[in-house]
This record gives sequence, C-alpha cells and structure tokens, in this order.
Amino acid sequence: MNDNKPNLDLAYALETVQDNRELYASWACDYDKDFASAMDYILPNQVAQIFLNMGGTGPVLDVGAGTGLGGQALAKLGIDPIDALDLSDEMLEIAAKKKIYRSLFTSDITQRIETSNYLYQGVISSGTFTHGHVGPNAIDNLLSVASTGALFALSINKSHWFEKGFAKKFEALSSRIEKLILHDVEIYGENSKGEHSDDLGVVATFCKV
Ligand SMILES: C[S@@+](CC[C@H](N)C(=O)[O-])C[C@H]1O[C@@H](n2cnc3c(N)ncnc32)[C@H](O)[C@@H]1O
Repeated sequence: MNDNKPNLDLAYALETVQDNRELYASWACDYDKDFASAMDYILPNQVAQIFLNMGGTGPVLDVGAGTGLGGQALAKLGIDPIDALDLSDEMLEIAAKKKIYRSLFTSDITQRIETSNYLYQGVISSGTFTHGHVGPNAIDNLLSVASTGALFALSINKSHWFEKGFAKKFEALSSRIEKLILHDVEIYGENSKGEHSDDLGVVATFCKV
C-alpha cells in the first residue's frame, strides 16, 4: 500500500479523536473503493443481518456510520428509518449522497451525545469499536439515546475486545442491559487479501433495560 494514502494500518494506529477526524477527512472519497471493495469488507452486512435476525426494528441509529455501508445493508433488509452519526463531516457527506438516512449528525461518541430529539429502538455500529478508534466507555453515551428495550448490535474487533476491556465493561453494565450475546464474525470476505484478511470481530447484541 502507498504510505501516503489512508489505509487500514494508519487507521489502526490512530490515537486521538482528532487523529480520527483528520484521517477520515482524507479517506472519505476513496473509502468505499480503496478500502471496502478492495478488502471485500463484509462487516456492515454481518451487523445488519444479525440485527435483523435478533428482531431489530427502526428507528435505528447507525453509530460511526462513515460512508453509510451499515445503513445501506439495513435498508436492503427493509429496516427504516435509519439515522447516521459520525465524527467526520466528510464521511457523512458521502453517506448523505446515498439517500438512505433520515438524518445525519456529526458527533463524538466518547462524549455525551447531543444528537437529536430522537430515542432509538435500535443502535448498530460496524468498524468503530476497533484499534485506534473508540473504547468501551462510549457505550454509556449510546445507551442514553436508546429507548427502553432497544436492541443494540455493535461490532468490536476481537483483539480489541480483550485488550481494551470490553468484557469488564459489559460486566459493569449488567444492571443496565440484558440478553447479551456475542456473535463471532469475519470482518472481510473470501476475496480479501493481505495481512488483515483473516481478522475477526464479535458483534455484541443486547437490549437496554
Ligand atoms: C472504519 S470506519 C467504519 C464506518 C462504517 N461504519 C463502516 O463499517 O464502513 C470508522 C468510523 O468511525 C468514526 N469514528 C471514529 N471515532 C469516532 C468517535 N469518537 N465518534 C463518532 N464516530 C467516530 C470515523 O469517523 C469513521 O467514519
């Protein structure tokens, strides 16, 4: 890969929220082609399918929506309405062009979310709880925008799960959530090549109490 262009290794090496803003500002236009298609990135489809299988319904908030791949997958499964939240205006501009989201919000989920007047029946996220991006404490902020009983389907990079304390976080949330299930998933499809092609994730599904 060309070191001057955004890529997965640079994304995994991010340290701060501002690092994320800068990387995704420069990646937005090429993300779908240079990353998602090139890597056969199937995680957004996996999250959407699991959300549907677990009985998920709209309205849904797609957290760290990026260019809208998770929203596209949900819409194909007949789920709506879907809103998008992301740190990056540039990623959301690409998502908006796909005309699948009811509303799009710029927000940092490591802080209190100032989104909207909406309370969601579903919250999904793919590719945002991963190396260099967002840690487990942001789940508190997501719970605050969900209705009682809302279904969550959040992908978490498998090694991040152990390194960043997601297991402990879910234990600490035990009075605020129920029906926690961890679904093992592949992040990339069979056409993926390179050192990350076998990377694994878990999709945590649970309901807000
Ligand atoms: C790997 S992309 C995933 C995008 C999309 N969900 C997908 O699967 O293609 C990670 C996204 O998380 C967003 N992000 C990173 N840190 C964030 C934060 N603190 N708050 C909200 N979004 C964040 C980035 O801007 C980026 O769009």
